[in-house]
Amino acid sequence: MEDQQIAMLAGKALEARKLSYCPYSGFAVGAALLCRDGTVYTGCNIENSAFSATVCAERTAIFKAVSEGRRDFAALAVAGGKRDEESPTDYCMPCGVCRQVMAEFCSPAEFTVISVKSTGDYRSYKLGELLPGAFGAASMK
Ligand code: THU
Repeated sequence: MEDQQIAMLAGKALEARKLSYCPYSGFAVGAALLCRDGTVYTGCNIENSAFSATVCAERTAIFKAVSEGRRDFAALAVAGGKRDEESPTDYCMPCGVCRQVMAEFCSPAEFTVISVKSTGDYRSYKLGELLPGAFGAASMK
């Protein structure tokens, strides 16, 4: 991916983070999911007083996209940190459940996960590095 495209996606994740609903953890996360045709779907974490009903930013973005007929994903940027901080002070990594959801739709060798501190400060991984040996449809054959 080109630096310019990563910066665009990182900026959208940082914007989405501002919409986080996180009254319980105070940890605000935003995500931006890039489809292969350039379309972007964003998401934020949405918490619930019944904690297990909380959904992460990454899954919000993926479920929005899939529910609108998309399954052709190239990359996802995630930005997370304490709500009262303007920008994340650390690289937030997707949780295990979100990695598993990514593995349902995305190629381990091609799909890029970008953890963002700012538009110019990020770390990039392939999904296969984050979830090696993933359980998938092929595991049940
Ligand atoms: N969270 C995310 O949205 N994405 C992650 O990758 C890690 C965790 C959210 C869930 C919860 O609302 C808060 O961050 C603290 O766990």
